[in-house]
Amino acid sequence: MKILFVCLGNICRSPLGEGIMQNLAEKHHLDILCDSAGTASYHTGEKPDMRSIEIAKEHGIDISKQRSRQFRRSDFEAFDHIFAMDESNHSNIVKHRPKEANAVLHLMRDFDTLAKTNKNVPDPYYGGDRGFADVFDIIERSCKEFLRKEKLLD
Ligand code: 4NP
Repeated sequence: MKILFVCLGNICRSPLGEGIMQNLAEKHHLDILCDSAGTASYHTGEKPDMRSIEIAKEHGIDISKQRSRQFRRSDFEAFDHIFAMDESNHSNIVKHRPKEANAVLHLMRDFDTLAKTNKNVPDPYYGGDRGFADVFDIIERSCKEFLRKEKLLD
């Protein structure tokens, strides 16, 4: 199964999605390949934000080798599942979805068992470190719930 995580810059939230899901897959011996992309190109070629690298490292996950890239229409063919981090990312990529898309497009927080009305993974870019810890927890909870729904995790 191939899974893509999408946010705006591909330096804060979606690199964590990629790292967390890939780590879960390795831990549970699941045949899953992850990648991530941004709807914007401002950060193309850059490493993830230091604050994302740090919070991942605290959880034993190395995301430092990832590099930002922009989302492309062919991602709808290349992946089985695409997770948009917020409604804005979702509406930006849904416009590019081909009629016969392979990928199923999801909103990440639809899988967050603790989400109430806010279905967006908050953009932590202009906030403090606490924002990154929250984002990590939200994405981890959501990834686990998706795997449970797919019957890949107990
Ligand atoms: P991300 O966060 O979408 O989670 O990677 C952001 C990164 C950069 C910017 C905005 C959000 N920016 O405006 O440059």
